[in-house]
Amino acid sequence: MHSHLLPGLDDGVKEMETSIAYIRQLHELGYSKLICTPHILSDIYPNSRQTILPKLYALREELAKANIPVKVEAAAEYMMDHEFAELVERSKKEDLLTISNQYILVEMSYLAASPHVEQIIFNLRMLGLQPILAHPERYNYYHHNFEQYERFKELGCKLQLNLLSLSGGYGPHVKKTGEKLLKNGLIDFVGTDMHHEMHMKMLQKLASTKDFYELMEGHEMLNKRLM
Ligand SMILES: [Fe+2]
Repeated sequence: MHSHLLPGLDDGVKEMETSIAYIRQLHELGYSKLICTPHILSDIYPNSRQTILPKLYALREELAKANIPVKVEAAAEYMMDHEFAELVERSKKEDLLTISNQYILVEMSYLAASPHVEQIIFNLRMLGLQPILAHPERYNYYHHNFEQYERFKELGCKLQLNLLSLSGGYGPHVKKTGEKLLKNGLIDFVGTDMHHEMHMKMLQKLASTKDFYELMEGHEMLNKRLM
C-alpha cells in the first residue's frame, strides 16, 4: 500500500521495464496487489492525477502483456507542506488521490515535523478521509517523544510501518522504534516503500528471516482491508 513503482514520476523506479521486473519479483514473494504512491512534493515532484493515472494505465497494460497476475492501483504520498495544507483546504474528497476512497497517505520531512500538522489532519478528517502517516519510525525527532505517536492515533491518524525499517535498512534506531511501535500496538499498516534494487534485495532477505515473522505474529494489520 506504499510503493514507488510507477516509472519516471519521482525518486522511485525510472523505467517501465524495471517496474515490470520488480513487480514480477514481488509476486514471487507472495504479493498479489500493490498500491503505487508516487511522491507529491511541491516543485520537486509536482505530481497529480494528470501525471499519475496515465502511468498506472500503462503499467496495467504491460503487466497484462507480461502475464503477471498482480493488481495495481495508484494513490500518492503527499508531503504535509504548506502547499498540501492549502490543497486540502480548497479540495473535495474526490479531488485527492486516496486509497480505497477512505485513506490518504501523508508524510513529513525527516528533519522536522510539519507545522500545523494537527490542523491538516483535522481538515482531512472533515473531508471524510483517514490520514495514514507513512513511516512514523523514520522521524528521528519523535524517537524520544513517544507520546506524539499516541497523539496521532488520538487524532484519527493511522500509522504505517516500513517493512524495510525492520530489516535495519535505515539504521538501528529506526529499527528499534519500528519494533517498539509494533509491540505497543500502534501500527495499523505495513508497506514496502519500495524505490529501487537495494530495497528489493532487502525485502527478499526479510521474507526469509524468522525474526520478522515472530515479530509480526499477533499483530493484525489493516492491509487486508485494501484487497
Ligand atoms: Fe514513500
